[in-house]
Amino acid sequence: MGHVITFAQQKGGAGKTTTLANLAAAWAAAGRRVALIDLDPQKSLTRWAGLREDPAMDLIDSRDYRAGPDIRAASRSHDRVLVDCPGAASTLLDSAIRESGLVIVPCQPSVMDAWASARVLEAAARLGTPVRILLNRVPPRLGGLEEVLDALGPARDRILAPSLGNRVAFSQAMITGRTAPEIARRSTAATEIAALLAEIDDILAAA
Ligand SMILES: Nc1ncnc2c1ncn2[C@@H]1O[C@H](COP(=O)(O)OP(=O)(O)OP(=O)(O)O)[C@@H](O)[C@H]1O
Ligand SMILES: [Mg+2]
Repeated sequence: MGHVITFAQQKGGAGKTTTLANLAAAWAAAGRRVALIDLDPQKSLTRWAGLREDPAMDLIDSRDYRAGPDIRAASRSHDRVLVDCPGAASTLLDSAIRESGLVIVPCQPSVMDAWASARVLEAAARLGTPVRILLNRVPPRLGGLEEVLDALGPARDRILAPSLGNRVAFSQAMITGRTAPEIARRSTAATEIAALLAEIDDILAAA
């Protein structure tokens, strides 16, 4: 069985699709069989995958009541099943989290993003699925981080050590179906994705 990872955060634009896509490509490049499941009606992940046409990744069309069974089926044939969730409240959130071995919650370093994380953190706790917060678009000199950490409450212990900076390569690469490490191999963005991938692999291996 492969590992199922759901990317969820009720706050729109937190970076769910971007981080998922970057990790998907990095795992595929490392020889993992990757499945993508796009539960967001906006279908940005689907459009990215369409531009990419990558034989090392399977985009699995799923929605509604099929989400749970589709995720389970994909985990039998893939090493990593990456599930993208909508930015708004969704009834599919629980189905995805229930099937997952890990939930990643991208969170920009603002109090409002921290507050919005509560819904996913609560669902993961209720369903017994391990959860980690990924600080995304972190500016080089961050004031006010303590307020953000306070707003996360006890979940501050769940913050991943690697974070992602606010970098043009992340947004630029998506336009052509690629990822930051692919368009800028020696960039800080590439180093950040490598560190994030290694950390998540460690968490999965320890689970
Ligand atoms: N680390 C980053 N650096 C620069 N831009 C970023 C970064 N992460 C995300 N972005 C940009 O922020 C915007 C929102 O990112 P993304 O679409 O991945 O968020 P999302 O959580 O999937 O949004 P939605 O809730 O609408 O699905 C995009 O334009 C993306 O290019
Ligand atoms: Mg998205």
